[in-house]
Amino acid sequence: MKNHNLQDSKLAGHMRTHTCGELRSDHEGETVTLCGWLNKDRNLGGLHFIDVRDKYGVTQLSFDEYKGEMALVEKFSLESVIMATGKVRKRPESALNKNMDTGEVEVVVEQITELAHASEPPFLPHGAVKAHEDLKLKYRYLDLRSNRLQNILSVRSQAMQNTRMALYEEGFTEIETPILYKTTPEGARDYVVPSRVHPGKVYALPQSPQTLKQLLMIGSTDKYFQICKCFRDEDLRADRQPEFSQIDIEVSFATQEYIKNLATKLVQRLFKLDANFDIPVMSYQTAIEKYGSDKPDVRFGLEHINATSLFGNSGFKVFETVIENEGLIKAIFVKKETKEFSRKEVDALVDVVKPHGGKGVAWFKVNAGEVSGGISKFVTEQALKGLRELNPEEGDGTYFFCADPKHSVVHACADALRRHFGKTLDLIDQDDYKFLWVNDFPLLEHDEEEGRFYACHHPFTMPKKSQLEDFKGGKFEDLLNMPAEAYDIVCNGYEIGGGSLRIYDNEVQSQMFKVLGMSEEEVSSKFGFFVEALKYGTPPHAGIAFGLDRVVMLLAKTDNIRDAIAFPKTNQATDLMSNAPSTPEKAQLDELHIDIQKK
Ligand code: AMO
Ligand code: AMP
Repeated sequence: MKNHNLQDSKLAGHMRTHTCGELRSDHEGETVTLCGWLNKDRNLGGLHFIDVRDKYGVTQLSFDEYKGEMALVEKFSLESVIMATGKVRKRPESALNKNMDTGEVEVVVEQITELAHASEPPFLPHGAVKAHEDLKLKYRYLDLRSNRLQNILSVRSQAMQNTRMALYEEGFTEIETPILYKTTPEGARDYVVPSRVHPGKVYALPQSPQTLKQLLMIGSTDKYFQICKCFRDEDLRADRQPEFSQIDIEVSFATQEYIKNLATKLVQRLFKLDANFDIPVMSYQTAIEKYGSDKPDVRFGLEHINATSLFGNSGFKVFETVIENEGLIKAIFVKKETKEFSRKEVDALVDVVKPHGGKGVAWFKVNAGEVSGGISKFVTEQALKGLRELNPEEGDGTYFFCADPKHSVVHACADALRRHFGKTLDLIDQDDYKFLWVNDFPLLEHDEEEGRFYACHHPFTMPKKSQLEDFKGGKFEDLLNMPAEAYDIVCNGYEIGGGSLRIYDNEVQSQMFKVLGMSEEEVSSKFGFFVEALKYGTPPHAGIAFGLDRVVMLLAKTDNIRDAIAFPKTNQATDLMSNAPSTPEKAQLDELHIDIQKK
């Protein structure tokens, strides 16, 4: 990763004259003062060198003309903070260091001070020895001294700056919304804050500023944005944090096309893409059919093939049972030139699908028109012909199959298999960014166990306009397959943003809450103010929110969201540095009118 923000301000009054990444041979002869951390200490008998490091780089200090007491310098510890003054000298040819930006020069120390002595750190921030992530999180401030994390912080800062510039250019107003608020459902649990002044009452931290930004539209704000914190108590993963940041956007009188154009402009700015950059559109349905996922990584092929109709009377029990149960069979084809699989490799694939409910991965090979291995004895000529017609790839290779009575299991398994191949067969260009605009998401998801509907996006999303009357009708079958005016923006297999056109009619909004199984009392206590607000002249409006942390992950080419955040939490939602969450004092609990139940 390149160093960002390398330029330093030259405002008078700073302790240093230059940063540790700044000096080059044309500074020769200048007297400079550097401040930073003692990065490395080499005492080669008569020759003594110290490397001093700051955010911007590393510079070598040389002591061959030092008149002070060397014994004191030798007591400086690694990672202590030092300040050195001396003359810049070109290094002799033999001592040039091409791996160091400042490798042409060194500073011949005249004066040096240890400003702050460092105890022996639990690990060195630039160390070759890898520390465990938990230890690094406990001492996050030490890990932050690493070049890698400093660069990511700069990438993040630049992303925020670019966001603001792009949106200010389009006439947006940046507005802050409250953190102590009421529930704003986005499918997770709320974090709540008990009120001291109102016994037994709580604020909820926003899962997003969704209702607030809609209220801003009702308040005639027209074009709003905010880079804001969102809080969700949900299961965490490599790309999810309990507290994360959004680039939150809402626009009155906007269509989906406007939001897409705006997102394109923003992404172009953030990812430094060509002026003619455009985002291809794909419906949710197509994404699921082709990739088994609503956030496919389209940097590589291996599209899914629906093979259900080809194995009706194949004699292969697994497939026949699946077909009898109206299930699904999907195939993935890997060309022989890409990979010839050994039996062992094929057998290991079951472990890829197991976590997604898959029971196995059936397979067979095609070589010059001949099938062999795996389930080949069940593959009729007609089935092979059918597969070939459906397969965009030609030639020899291996077909892999996922089958299950539950379509969702097949999609998830074939998606996992495709991603596994993408990674292990090295099919992905790591330097590439490939975007996708996925739309026509379903409005609702039916939970069979609970016998109720959930909103796929959130309860403020407009049903597909053409089906609004059916929505108002409220028939179960109509609701089951109803599309929404909702869209996501996907990059390299990550959902980096999502949004929708909003309901702007209070009756439709009330109907939505009803469909979601909320009683009138519940609606009134949670969202009464919002439904009421919709009555007073609400403009049609639409918006989107980008996950800033995920954008930064992509920009910084890391697959760990914690890298993108200065002080992240673990997968258990804890902060290992401060030990949050922690046990409150009894007096604090009393003040908040809280008793802790002992189980
Ligand atoms: P949504 O819930 O899709 O939409 O969130 C928008 C984007 O935020 C990011 N994101 C997260 N990032 C890190 N950790 C998390 N736990 C997390 N959850 C979400 C994702 C996601 O695409 N109010 C709506 C937006 C709208 O309709 O305008 C909303 O919050 O990148
Ligand atoms: P079996 O007859 O159960 O030994 O399975 C034969 C082959 O089918 C093995 O390669 C299994 O991995 C595979 N298989 C089993 N169940 C499934 C399934 N649900 N989908 C795809 N392949 C399967």
